[in-house]
Amino acid sequence: MNSVEKAIDKNYDTVIGGVELLDKAAEYIRRGELVAFPTETVYGLGADAFNEEAVKCIFIAKGRPQDNPFIVHVASPEGAAVAASYIPDEAYRLWEKFSPGPLTVVLPKSERMPLITTGGLRTVGIRIPNNEIALELIRRSGCAIAAPSANTSGRISPTRASDVYEDMRGRIPLILDGGQTDVGIESTVIDLTREVPTVLRPGAITAEMLAEVLGEVVNHKGKVVVAAAPGMKYKHYAPVVPCIGARTPEAAVRIASRYPSAVVMGESAFVKAVGGVSAIDLGSSPAECMRNVFSAMRDAEKIYSCIVLEDFSDKPEYYALNNRLSKSTGGKTEE
Ligand code: TXA
Ligand code: MG
Repeated sequence: MNSVEKAIDKNYDTVIGGVELLDKAAEYIRRGELVAFPTETVYGLGADAFNEEAVKCIFIAKGRPQDNPFIVHVASPEGAAVAASYIPDEAYRLWEKFSPGPLTVVLPKSERMPLITTGGLRTVGIRIPNNEIALELIRRSGCAIAAPSANTSGRISPTRASDVYEDMRGRIPLILDGGQTDVGIESTVIDLTREVPTVLRPGAITAEMLAEVLGEVVNHKGKVVVAAAPGMKYKHYAPVVPCIGARTPEAAVRIASRYPSAVVMGESAFVKAVGGVSAIDLGSSPAECMRNVFSAMRDAEKIYSCIVLEDFSDKPEYYALNNRLSKSTGGKTEE
């Protein structure tokens, strides 16, 4: 049975473990199998970026549409040379400041980079993750690793090995466990192939931070009219129960009262102002809330019949988080 047939067969006895499994994981990658691994943002579902059969297995395991490009993970700016045909000075300046880190830089793809990896695009998203297990997996395998988030297509991104197990059990041979991820939402994606560098997906590294290095950056405006980051057009981050935004604590209580059991999630002050209903305090800063939100949603959907999310539209420092939450709610929000 080749690896694609095996992936369709979904009969792996999935193993979870830590650094002691790194050599085995690296060998799986070299052999064209899939390995899930931690990064500082969310867990990735990795394959050798240059092995077309292996990359096909990612689509199968995720149930993902084939026009969605994968981010290629490398260990250093030097490692990016195999993935990109041309690396502009702007990319080196960004890496100097933010790498390793939660940033993906879109560049023209190299001849060798298969179109299946880039979703048919002539560009490639390259990222140097700030996680020792991820970096060591790249180094020991000797491969550039194509990896989307390790969730089933459309589901919440995984921030713990157990979340990956929930979605990928039996579909992949191995999950590297690096504990709960630190940043908690996916990397910022910036496209350097346009006239003006353009943020395609907001993240912990903000457009303002990028503009400080590059001079000028076009921010992601929330509405993607032409789906420039094709991933943004699909339904994302959707819990299995209804998920509704609330602009005020009063609205949160009102929404919660309509369901047999509901939980309200938001930053500390918001949650404290909500009385008489179950609530989860995500933290008192954007960094804390980003770190905790996906695992809280995954836990809550198993217990409650509705999730009420604080709507952060009025708080610019929560811009990236609100971008993800508005996808979970599908834009449904109440005053
Ligand atoms: O933090 C992250 O970026 C995580 C970890 C595992 O590294 N990965 C991740 O991958 O979020 P994924 O596949 O779930 O999301 C990748 C996003 C999509 O919105 C995709 O369209 C965009 O990046 N993207 C990738 N390559 C691109 C390209 N060449 N041009 C435009 N957008 C691209
Ligand atoms: Mg994803």
